[in-house]
Amino acid sequence: MPDTSSTKDQVANLLAAKNDWVSGEKISDVLGISRAAVAKHVNALRREGFLIDAVSKRGYFLKIAPDPIDPKKIKAGLRSKIIGRGECIWLPETSSTNQEAVVRAVDGLAEGAVILSDRQLTGRGRRGRSWFSPPRSLCFSVLLRPAWPAARLPWLMIAGAAAVHRLVVESAGLPAAIKWPNDVLVNGRKMAGVLVEAGLSAGEVDWAVVGIGVNINTTAEEFPEDLAGRVTSLLVEGGRVFDRNKLYAGLLNNFDEFYRLLLAGRENILNDYWREASGLVGREMKIIASEGRVKGRAMGLNKDGHLLVTTADGRELLLESGDCQ
Ligand code: BTN
Repeated sequence: MPDTSSTKDQVANLLAAKNDWVSGEKISDVLGISRAAVAKHVNALRREGFLIDAVSKRGYFLKIAPDPIDPKKIKAGLRSKIIGRGECIWLPETSSTNQEAVVRAVDGLAEGAVILSDRQLTGRGRRGRSWFSPPRSLCFSVLLRPAWPAARLPWLMIAGAAAVHRLVVESAGLPAAIKWPNDVLVNGRKMAGVLVEAGLSAGEVDWAVVGIGVNINTTAEEFPEDLAGRVTSLLVEGGRVFDRNKLYAGLLNNFDEFYRLLLAGRENILNDYWREASGLVGREMKIIASEGRVKGRAMGLNKDGHLLVTTADGRELLLESGDCQ
C-alpha cells in the first residue's frame, strides 16, 4: 500500500517537471498506481490550491502551483510594531479566520496576533453574507485591543481597506479604488473585502477582529459563476503570479502603520489617504444602510470614521457602514 501523501507529492512533482500535458497513463505507469488513484491525487492537489487542467486523451497540465505560506518568511518581512509581532497562527484549512480569532480573543489572545489560512469553509462577509475564499489568495484576521469607545470602530475597517489599497498600488502598480466602506476595487471589480467584528464592555472596545480577504493568484475561471464579472484578482489584473508571503508582510506593515496613526490620534492622515483613494467626497450616492435607503452627497469622514452624508432635503446623516451604489 503506497504512502498516499508522498504519492500525491510525486504526482505534483511529475506535473511540475513538465510545462506541458502529462497523460494519466504515464503518471500511473511511473508511480505504479491506477488511473483512478491518479485522478484522486489530482483532486486532492486541487483542494490544496494547485490549478490543474484535465482534458481527455491529453491528460493533466499543471498551470499554477500554490506558493506555500510560511509564517517565518512573513515575519522576516515585517517592520511593524504591533500587528504580526505576537502570535502568527497558520491554519491550512479552517471554518473562518475571523471565527478562530474571535474564539481566541475571548480566551485572552494578545493584541497584534494574526491568524492566516489557505482555505475557509465558511468564510464570513459583511451583513451576514458569506465570503468565497479563492485559491492562492490572502485570507487572515488580526486581533486588536484599542482602548476606544465602540463609536470609533469604523476606523478599523477604513484602515484595513486603506492598507489593502496601498498594497495593490505599490506592489502591483494597479489603479485601485476604495469603495466605502470596506471594498477594494480594481477596474470596477472587487479584489478585497474587510470585515470587523468586536467585543464590547460598557461601550468600550474589549477586542476587535479585523478579517481581510484579498484575491491574489486566482484565475477568472476559478471564481464561482455568481461572482463572475464582479470580482477580480491581482493575477487577472496584473498578468503575473505574486509572492504571497511578501504580500502578507507588506499588508501587515501597511495596516500596522495606519493602526498606529489611529492610536496616536492622527486619524487625519488616514482620512486624507482615504479621501484620495475613495474619490467619494462630494459625490452623489445611494446607500443601503441600517437607517434604510439613503440618497445624498458624501461629505467626508467624521472624527470616528463615520461617513457624513447630506441628503437632498438637507438632512445630515452619519453612517457607520452600508452598501454603496
Ligand atoms: C466583505 O467584503 O463582505 C468582507 C469579507 C471579509 C473576508 C475575510 S477573509 C478573512 C476573514 N475571515 C472571514 O471569515 N472573513 C474575513
